[in-house]
Amino acid sequence: MSSLLEVQGLQAWIGRFHILQGVDLSVREGETTVLLGRNGAGKTTTLRAIMGLVAVRGGSVRLGGQELAGKRPYTIAQLGIGYVPEDRGIFRFLTVEENLRVAERSRGALKRREELIFGLFPDLARFRQRKAGYLSGGQQQMLAIARALVNDNRLLLIDEPTKGLAPIVVQHLTQTLAEIAKHVTVLLVEQNFAMAARLGQACVIVDDGRTVHRGSMNALVNDPGLQQRYLGVGAQQGSPAGEGPQASPAGGSQHGSPAGGSQHGSPAGGSQHGSPAGGRQQAS
Ligand SMILES: Nc1ncnc2c1ncn2[C@@H]1O[C@H](COP(=O)(O)OP(=O)(O)OP(=O)(O)O)[C@@H](O)[C@H]1O
Ligand SMILES: [Mg+2]
Repeated sequence: MSSLLEVQGLQAWIGRFHILQGVDLSVREGETTVLLGRNGAGKTTTLRAIMGLVAVRGGSVRLGGQELAGKRPYTIAQLGIGYVPEDRGIFRFLTVEENLRVAERSRGALKRREELIFGLFPDLARFRQRKAGYLSGGQQQMLAIARALVNDNRLLLIDEPTKGLAPIVVQHLTQTLAEIAKHVTVLLVEQNFAMAARLGQACVIVDDGRTVHRGSMNALVNDPGLQQRYLGVGAQQGSPAGEGPQASPAGGSQHGSPAGGSQHGSPAGGSQHGSPAGGRQQAS
C-alpha cells in the first residue's frame, strides 16, 4: 500500500517557541494511522501544520507526492484534506444543516453526501434544524466529523474526537469512526488507547515535538514497555473503547510553552481527559 501523506522533518514555531523539532510520519492509503503522545507533545500542532494553520518552517508535507508546506489552509483543504479540530469548531448559533452547508466546497456537495452522513449519524438527521449549541457534546462531535465528510476528501485529520465524552458515547463514536475509515484514509489523534488500538493499523508517537516511534498498532499494543516509556501508561489490551486507561495519565509535559508547561494539562500535570481508572468526564 502506498503512502498518501508523507511528513518529513517537520519544524514549526508558535510565536518564539520551537514546538515541532522533527516530526516524521506517513499515512498509508486506506489505513487509519494513530498519532499518539503525552499532553503537550505536539499532536495538535502537527495536524495544524499539515493543514497550514501553523507555518511549516522546515521539512516537508506531501499529499500524494504534492508539497503542501507553504500553501494556505484553504488550498490544502481543496486538495482533499478534511480537518476535525480538537475544539470541534462548530458554529453554535447555526443549525446542524447550516453547519454542514458552510463546509461545502462545491455546490450540491451536501446533497451528494447526505445519505452517507445521515446514515452514519441518525441523530444529526433528527436534529437537522436544531441550533448546534443545543446538541449534546457527543452530537456536537458527530457534527464536527460530519462536516469533514461533506466533501469528497482523500484524507481526514481528526483530533481527539472522544475528549470529554461519556464512555457509552465513546463506544458509539468508535463504531462510527470504524465505518468512516472504510471510506477514507484517516490520521487520528486519540488519547483513549483502547480506541486507538481498535481503529489504528499504524501508529506514530511524538514526544517533545519529535517523532520517537513509528510502527504497527499491533506491535505497540503488545509492547507495554514502549507504552510506558512514551505514553506513561501500561495499556490493557483489548479493553473496550471508553473503558480502557487513557494514554497519558502520567503527566503533562513541558515543551517550551510560555509557562514552561502544557497549558492543556490539569494542575496535577495529568491528563484532562479522564481519571486514571479510565472514566471520562460526562459532557454529553
Ligand atoms: N498558542 C501557543 N503558544 C505557546 N505555546 C503553545 C501554544 N499552543 C501550543 N503550545 C505549546 O506547544 C506544545 C504542543 O502543543 P499541542 O497542543 O500540539 O500538544 P498536544 O500533543 O496536542 O497536547 P494535548 O494532548 O494536550 O492536546 C505544548 O507544549 C504547548 O504548551
Ligand atoms: Mg492536542
